[in-house]
Amino acid sequence: MNFKHDIVIVGAGLAGLRAAVECVEEADVAVVSKVLPTRSHSGAAQGGITASIGNEEEDHWEWHMFDTVKGSDYLADQDAVEIMVKDAPRVIYELEHMGVPFSRNKDGKIAQRNFGGHTSEYGKKPVKRACYASDRTGRVVLDTLYDQCLRHRVKFYQEHYVLSLVFEDKKCAGLITYDLSSGELNLIEARAVLLATGGCGRIFKTTSNGFASTGDGLNLAHRAGIPLMDMEFVQFHPTGLYPLGILVSEAARGEGGILRNSLGERFMERYAPTVKDLAARDVVSRAILTEVREGRSFEGGYVHLDLTHLGEKKIIERLWEITSFVRIYLGIDPVYEPIPVYPTCHYLMGGIPTDTDGRVLQDESDAIAQGLYAAGECACVSVHGANRLGCNSLLDTLVFGRRCGMAMKADISKIEHQPVSDEPLEKAKEMLAGLLYHKGYEKIDVVRRNMQSLMMDYCSVFRDEEGLKKELESIRSLKMRFNDVEIVDKGKNFNYELMEAIELGHQLDLAEVILLSALYRKESRGAHFREDFPVRDDTNFLKHTLVFKGQEVRYKPVVITRFQPEARVY
Ligand code: FUM
Repeated sequence: MNFKHDIVIVGAGLAGLRAAVECVEEADVAVVSKVLPTRSHSGAAQGGITASIGNEEEDHWEWHMFDTVKGSDYLADQDAVEIMVKDAPRVIYELEHMGVPFSRNKDGKIAQRNFGGHTSEYGKKPVKRACYASDRTGRVVLDTLYDQCLRHRVKFYQEHYVLSLVFEDKKCAGLITYDLSSGELNLIEARAVLLATGGCGRIFKTTSNGFASTGDGLNLAHRAGIPLMDMEFVQFHPTGLYPLGILVSEAARGEGGILRNSLGERFMERYAPTVKDLAARDVVSRAILTEVREGRSFEGGYVHLDLTHLGEKKIIERLWEITSFVRIYLGIDPVYEPIPVYPTCHYLMGGIPTDTDGRVLQDESDAIAQGLYAAGECACVSVHGANRLGCNSLLDTLVFGRRCGMAMKADISKIEHQPVSDEPLEKAKEMLAGLLYHKGYEKIDVVRRNMQSLMMDYCSVFRDEEGLKKELESIRSLKMRFNDVEIVDKGKNFNYELMEAIELGHQLDLAEVILLSALYRKESRGAHFREDFPVRDDTNFLKHTLVFKGQEVRYKPVVITRFQPEARVY
């Protein structure tokens, strides 16, 4: 079938829904999502949203900006960071007015808590900057924005999977979707297309990401000729629930939780003497794995997150969700026993390059890809650089989702619908038939598990040239094996096997891009730690990586305004 809208948004997480709310009164807006919208991965965000509203103690946007830039290991573009942190207080009050039930402090104001890397007076001491709703902040913001979309009658194509972007005359003119419920293909034409499809944590074996985080939007753009930026920067959250990888919010440490090794030592005192357990995530993840490597971990290779001194009332009030996860999945009660934790793949700092209004950039000269926009985790604006600070990601989705909405509604007055030929639909049909009817010897699950283990072993917290090269070869041979995958389910309704095959194709392509970016960056910065180049090298690598289709790697400069790079000591 054929549909036509002014604006089509792919992804129903926070960035997509915030953009939809922004433009729906002035344009015909549709949201396409492969899951039911309220199942989007944003709903898993636990800890909070940062803003220097100073409800608990003195705070300023300049301090927030400094921390974000320092946390990024000076790779963030400072013009974008400044926009984000200055806009943060407005975001919080706007959400409150929309109906988000933030937790309150004793004065009845929106409560704020500590999170890693957020400090006052340019790094002197931790500051309470994260606004939160217990430990289900993402859930309540997602539900509120979804309600707003329903109120404004945004059209949802839910459980529709995007197969390709349609370009006509070098302009993005829509997309082809596969309706999971019926197996039908649709052409959805649009004057503006926003990709807000989230990250790709499912490339790794241990991850806090939901099953839907397979990086589809990133690779749809890449296949259409858009470079991917800074893909070597993959964040490992220090406290994944061992051995499952489910997120144990940093809020636990923000509320006073302490990491301990098998000797009972508070080991972060050695790695970050000033902020200790509240150092940036890359620092804490490396510290945990160093403890494991040096034999001070528990059997199986994990450490303890100890909350027992916080008391039942605080734990239940502020950390209810993680408490229930730990009780359900491990049979451990965090009120009385420490939680086993280990770093888990959490967030992709890199992504589709955009300007500060979400317009997609197609090369290092910042030429704009007409009609195409990106926001949220799949985009790289770049406010997180080499390492994101906790609670800056919900902020990013809300600030840049809205800005993207504003840009699209301004731009569509200048963009006409392009006539779309039959070719994209025919190609999509061929692609699906090729996958469905191929007789082969490989299974999706086997290839996927291989990829996930390889990424974990050679491209996670610690990396080196030998491992990266070896893995690149292995991923390329997995890509060959992927061509021989046979799909057993030939049905039309909810054929998840077929969708997973397409997702796996995207994941393998992205794994290759991540590996190439990591191999070429011969230094250590933020989440990218090369054991063979353990020092940050600003002379040669204070620049953004761009990987183009065909694996060509190019670079572009970082925007530096207020804060010159300096050593990152915590
Ligand atoms: O630890 C957390 O609650 C995660 C927050 C974030 O990634 O921003």
